[in-house]
Amino acid sequence: MGMRIKELEFEKFITKSTVQRKVKLLAEQINEDYTDRSPVFLPILNGAFMFAADLMKTIRMPCKVSFVKVSSYAGTASTGQLKTLVGLDESLFNQDVIIVEDIIDTGLTLQKIVLELQSLGTKSVEVIALLRKSGAREKKIDVKYVGFEIENEFVLGYGLDYEGYGRNLTDIYQTKT
Ligand code: PRP
Repeated sequence: MGMRIKELEFEKFITKSTVQRKVKLLAEQINEDYTDRSPVFLPILNGAFMFAADLMKTIRMPCKVSFVKVSSYAGTASTGQLKTLVGLDESLFNQDVIIVEDIIDTGLTLQKIVLELQSLGTKSVEVIALLRKSGAREKKIDVKYVGFEIENEFVLGYGLDYEGYGRNLTDIYQTKT
Protein backbone atom coordinates (compact mmCIF):
# COMPACT_ATOMS: atom_id res chain seq x y z
CA MET A 1 0.00 0.00 0.00
CA GLY A 2 1.34 3.41 -0.96
CA MET A 3 1.62 6.49 1.17
CA ARG A 4 1.87 10.16 0.33
CA ILE A 5 3.51 12.81 2.48
CA LYS A 6 3.49 16.30 1.05
CA GLU A 7 4.73 15.95 -2.55
CA LEU A 8 6.44 12.58 -2.08
CA GLU A 9 5.04 9.10 -2.83
CA PHE A 10 6.28 6.26 -0.69
CA GLU A 11 5.93 2.50 -0.99
CA LYS A 12 6.35 -0.24 1.58
CA PHE A 13 9.97 -1.36 1.88
CA ILE A 14 10.38 -3.42 5.06
CA THR A 15 7.22 -4.74 6.70
CA LYS A 16 6.41 -4.40 10.35
CA SER A 17 6.80 -8.15 10.99
CA THR A 18 10.22 -8.26 9.30
CA VAL A 19 11.32 -5.30 11.41
CA GLN A 20 10.04 -6.91 14.61
CA ARG A 21 11.79 -10.22 13.89
CA LYS A 22 15.07 -8.42 13.23
CA VAL A 23 14.81 -6.29 16.35
CA LYS A 24 14.33 -9.41 18.50
CA LEU A 25 17.31 -11.08 16.85
CA LEU A 26 19.54 -8.07 17.50
CA ALA A 27 18.41 -7.91 21.13
CA GLU A 28 19.21 -11.62 21.59
CA GLN A 29 22.72 -11.04 20.25
CA ILE A 30 23.22 -8.25 22.78
CA ASN A 31 21.84 -10.49 25.54
CA GLU A 32 24.51 -13.06 24.68
CA ASP A 33 27.36 -10.57 24.33
CA TYR A 34 26.60 -8.66 27.54
CA THR A 35 25.61 -11.51 29.90
CA ASP A 36 27.81 -10.44 32.80
CA ARG A 37 27.73 -6.72 32.15
CA SER A 38 25.33 -3.94 32.84
CA PRO A 39 25.43 -1.54 29.88
CA VAL A 40 23.96 1.90 29.40
CA PHE A 41 21.86 2.17 26.23
CA LEU A 42 21.95 5.61 24.60
CA PRO A 43 19.22 5.95 21.97
CA ILE A 44 19.68 9.04 19.80
CA LEU A 45 16.53 11.14 19.50
CA ASN A 46 14.34 11.61 17.67
CA GLY A 47 14.67 8.82 15.14
CA ALA A 48 15.64 5.98 17.49
CA PHE A 49 12.67 6.26 19.85
CA MET A 50 10.58 3.44 18.36
CA PHE A 51 13.48 1.10 17.65
CA ALA A 52 14.84 1.59 21.17
CA ALA A 53 11.45 0.98 22.76
CA ASP A 54 11.01 -2.34 20.92
CA LEU A 55 14.62 -3.40 21.38
CA MET A 56 14.55 -2.90 25.14
CA LYS A 57 11.56 -5.23 25.53
CA THR A 58 13.79 -8.21 24.67
CA ILE A 59 16.89 -7.09 26.59
CA ARG A 60 17.26 -9.11 29.79
CA MET A 61 20.44 -8.02 31.60
CA PRO A 62 20.25 -5.22 34.17
CA CYS A 63 20.83 -2.01 32.23
CA LYS A 64 20.12 1.69 32.01
CA VAL A 65 18.47 3.57 29.15
CA SER A 66 19.18 7.24 28.64
CA PHE A 67 17.85 9.13 25.63
CA VAL A 68 20.12 11.80 24.18
CA LYS A 69 20.01 14.21 21.31
CA VAL A 70 22.67 15.43 18.94
CA SER A 71 22.76 19.14 18.49
CA SER A 72 24.29 20.38 15.32
CA TYR A 73 25.11 23.96 14.64
CA ALA A 74 27.11 25.52 11.88
CA GLY A 75 30.74 25.91 12.79
CA THR A 76 33.32 27.96 10.98
CA ALA A 77 34.29 26.98 7.47
CA SER A 78 37.32 25.16 8.83
CA THR A 79 35.51 23.10 11.46
CA GLY A 80 32.44 22.33 9.38
CA GLN A 81 29.40 21.12 11.29
CA LEU A 82 29.95 20.70 15.00
CA LYS A 83 27.90 18.00 16.64
CA THR A 84 27.66 17.43 20.32
CA LEU A 85 25.59 15.22 22.62
CA VAL A 86 22.95 16.95 24.71
CA GLY A 87 20.88 15.54 27.54
CA LEU A 88 23.48 13.24 29.09
CA ASP A 89 22.25 13.09 32.65
CA GLU A 90 24.68 10.68 34.22
CA SER A 91 28.34 9.89 34.27
CA LEU A 92 29.41 7.38 31.66
CA PHE A 93 32.86 7.00 33.17
CA ASN A 94 33.89 3.32 33.16
CA GLN A 95 30.53 2.29 31.64
CA ASP A 96 29.79 -0.09 28.77
CA VAL A 97 27.82 2.12 26.41
CA ILE A 98 25.62 0.98 23.52
CA ILE A 99 24.55 3.73 21.11
CA VAL A 100 21.14 3.02 19.54
CA GLU A 101 20.56 4.59 16.12
CA ASP A 102 17.72 4.24 13.65
CA ILE A 103 19.88 4.90 10.60
CA ILE A 104 23.47 5.57 9.66
CA ASP A 105 23.59 7.62 6.49
CA THR A 106 26.96 9.28 5.95
CA GLY A 107 28.26 8.07 9.31
CA LEU A 108 29.27 11.56 10.35
CA THR A 109 26.94 11.82 13.34
CA LEU A 110 28.15 8.53 14.72
CA GLN A 111 31.80 9.38 14.23
CA LYS A 112 31.37 12.49 16.37
CA ILE A 113 29.33 10.74 19.07
CA VAL A 114 31.75 7.84 19.46
CA LEU A 115 34.69 10.21 19.84
CA GLU A 116 32.81 12.30 22.39
CA LEU A 117 31.84 9.22 24.42
CA GLN A 118 35.38 7.87 24.39
CA SER A 119 36.62 11.20 25.72
CA LEU A 120 34.32 10.74 28.75
CA GLY A 121 36.31 7.71 29.89
CA THR A 122 33.79 5.04 28.93
CA LYS A 123 34.88 1.43 29.32
CA SER A 124 33.52 0.44 25.90
CA VAL A 125 31.37 1.96 23.16
CA GLU A 126 29.42 -0.19 20.69
CA VAL A 127 26.75 0.77 18.19
CA ILE A 128 23.47 -0.80 17.16
CA ALA A 129 21.74 0.61 14.09
CA LEU A 130 18.54 -0.66 12.51
CA LEU A 131 19.50 0.58 9.06
CA ARG A 132 22.82 1.38 7.45
CA LYS A 133 23.26 3.00 4.06
CA SER A 134 26.00 1.85 1.74
CA GLY A 135 27.83 5.19 1.91
CA ALA A 136 28.47 4.72 5.61
CA ARG A 137 30.03 1.31 5.08
CA GLU A 138 32.99 2.99 3.42
CA LYS A 139 33.65 5.00 6.56
CA LYS A 140 35.71 3.20 9.13
CA ILE A 141 33.19 3.10 11.93
CA ASP A 142 32.79 -0.20 13.61
CA VAL A 143 29.08 -0.89 13.98
CA LYS A 144 28.67 -4.13 15.87
CA TYR A 145 24.95 -4.67 15.34
CA VAL A 146 23.24 -3.77 12.04
CA GLY A 147 19.64 -4.66 11.20
CA PHE A 148 19.43 -4.01 7.48
CA GLU A 149 22.05 -2.89 4.97
CA ILE A 150 20.35 -0.66 2.40
CA GLU A 151 21.41 1.36 -0.62
CA ASN A 152 20.63 5.03 -0.98
CA GLU A 153 16.84 4.86 -0.71
CA PHE A 154 15.15 7.65 1.20
CA VAL A 155 13.40 5.80 4.01
CA LEU A 156 10.51 6.70 6.27
CA GLY A 157 8.59 5.20 9.18
CA TYR A 158 9.47 3.37 12.42
CA GLY A 159 10.96 6.56 13.84
CA LEU A 160 12.29 7.94 10.57
CA ASP A 161 10.67 11.08 9.19
CA TYR A 162 10.14 13.13 6.10
CA GLU A 163 9.94 16.78 7.15
CA GLY A 164 8.85 15.68 10.59
CA TYR A 165 6.09 13.32 9.43
CA GLY A 166 5.93 9.55 9.31
CA ARG A 167 7.75 8.64 12.52
CA ASN A 168 4.65 6.87 13.86
CA LEU A 169 4.42 4.33 11.01
CA THR A 170 5.21 0.75 12.01
CA ASP A 171 6.36 -0.39 8.56
CA ILE A 172 9.37 1.16 6.81
CA TYR A 173 8.73 2.91 3.49
CA GLN A 174 10.94 4.16 0.68
CA THR A 175 10.34 6.78 -1.99
CA LYS A 176 8.58 5.41 -5.06
CA THR A 177 10.87 5.05 -8.04
C1 PRP B 1 19.36 10.94 11.51
C2 PRP B 1 19.67 9.63 12.20
C3 PRP B 1 21.10 9.78 12.59
C4 PRP B 1 21.68 10.69 11.52
C5 PRP B 1 22.43 9.85 10.55
O1 PRP B 1 18.98 11.87 12.46
O2 PRP B 1 18.83 9.39 13.29
O3 PRP B 1 21.25 10.36 13.87
O4 PRP B 1 20.58 11.32 10.88
O5 PRP B 1 23.00 10.63 9.53
P1 PRP B 1 24.55 10.65 9.21
O6 PRP B 1 25.04 9.24 9.28
O7 PRP B 1 24.60 11.19 7.80
O8 PRP B 1 25.25 11.56 10.16
P2 PRP B 1 18.41 13.33 12.09
O9 PRP B 1 19.53 14.31 12.14
O10 PRP B 1 17.63 13.26 10.81
O11 PRP B 1 17.45 13.66 13.32
P3 PRP B 1 16.17 12.87 13.82
O12 PRP B 1 16.68 11.57 14.42
O13 PRP B 1 15.60 13.75 14.86
O14 PRP B 1 15.26 12.62 12.66
